[in-house]
Parts: sequence; C-alpha cells; structure tokens
Amino acid sequence: MKMKKTLIVANWKMNLNIHQSSLLVSRLNKKITSHQDIEVVLSPSMLALQPIHLELNHHKFRLASQNGYFPDEGPYTGEVSFAMLKGLVDYGIIGHSSRRIYFNETLEMIRDKVKAAIRNDIIPIICIGETKPERLAGETNQVLHDQLTTAIYHLTSEEIARTVIAYEPIWAISTFDGEPSKPDDMQKALKFIRDQITDLYGQNTADDVRILYGGSVDDHDVRAYLSLEDCDGVLVGAASLNYEKFSNIVSKANQLNREIKN
Ligand code: PGA
Repeated sequence: MKMKKTLIVANWKMNLNIHQSSLLVSRLNKKITSHQDIEVVLSPSMLALQPIHLELNHHKFRLASQNGYFPDEGPYTGEVSFAMLKGLVDYGIIGHSSRRIYFNETLEMIRDKVKAAIRNDIIPIICIGETKPERLAGETNQVLHDQLTTAIYHLTSEEIARTVIAYEPIWAISTFDGEPSKPDDMQKALKFIRDQITDLYGQNTADDVRILYGGSVDDHDVRAYLSLEDCDGVLVGAASLNYEKFSNIVSKANQLNREIKN
C-alpha cells in the first residue's frame, strides 16, 4: 500500500493575489527538490491558475483547482466549469468543508462535480469529514459513509482507483475550530473510508485509492500522519502559505519514505 506516491496538496484557499502566488511558487521551487515517490500539488485561487500554470516547473509540481462547476457551459454567472479547467489542472478539490458550509454544497452537487471532473480528465480530490457535534454524537462513520458513497457510487473501478479522498474532520481544520487531532484516532477514520471503498469495489481497487488526511497539518506533525497505515498523503491549508513550513513538510515526507524503503 505504501508503494503509492505520497500526495502533498497545498490548499491556499482565498489567499494570495496573482503576484503573491507567483512569489510563493518561486520560493517553493527553490526550496523543494523533486522526489520520485512524492507528488506535490499546489492549489491557488482560480484567478492565479493560468499564470501559475505558465511559470510552473511541471516536473516538480502539479496544479489543482479549489472548485469547479459541473455543467460544461451555460448561464451560470460567476462560475468556472471543469471543462474550462481541462488541460490547466491535474486535480480538482471537490466538496471542501468551506464549500459545504459557506456555499451550501449538497451531496448531490458534489456527486455531479466529481462526475464533471472525471469527464474532463481532472482527478477529483473529494473532501469528507464530520463536524464536532456529529463526532460527539458518535455519528462520524455514518457521516463519512453518506458523504463518500454519494460522491463515488457512480464511478467505475478504474475511475475510483485514480480518485483521491481527503478525510478532513471539520473540527480539526485551522479556520474552523483547529482542535488538535490524535493521529491514532484519525487512522480509524482513514481505515473506515478504505473499508467502505473495499465493500463497493473490492480490496485491490481500494488499495489503489489515495486517502489523505487534512486538518491543521504542519511540519511538526506531518510525520505522525504520514506514518499511519491508511494515510497516503496530506492536504495542507494554513501551513502551505508559509514556504519554509511547506517545504519542510515535503522533506519530512521524503525522509519517512527513505526510512520505509531501507
Ligand atoms: P488547515 O486547512 O491545514 O489550515 O487546517 C486544511 C484544509 O482546510 O484543507
């Protein structure tokens, strides 16, 4: 299972204008060396995607959108479709909790976005996770099950094998409660997610799916998360805006991979 490339995704959210984004990319480019078994994905704002695409070292970094709309075109003022993002990004973050919470994205919209991304050769990074009250009420597994199965049930085995699932408990995300999570507890949820995929698609396919953890990950705790049995990478918000921290995250992932290999 650990033979998959470690995926490290930087979610810049609604931060950094085009100039600032470009500056951060050039700093990261100097600091980060490419590693065969690590994929680093940057997710700037919609506005910065095109200029960053032109200047990016594509051997080192991949690009993700933070969103995308599901119809390919039409009278949807203010939206950008996955069809328009085709060729520009490799990945698309879908169903992030800030989209679910602030923009009322429903399970069905997220399902349609996943379909649209795949139709346009964009790999979905599907974010799922429970709120604090849901966790306290013991509903975590039910929430994860509902969010996951609605988003993926229509996918073929080949499609799901390329899809990325990010487990992001909402209470652990820095912009919400930012409560520290215990890596061992997180393994339970990551395993639960893989088990759900196994039930639907079988063990071999489920093993191919990359499952990420996200929620206040930084350079001090990234190793603990990446060491978990079912953790294939991390989705990093606040710490990804700091080039020192984010490049440390990549080097810690590399150190861990070297140790596992030896
Ligand atoms: P955080 O954000 O690392 O700042 O908690 C993660 C996310 O929301 O994707």
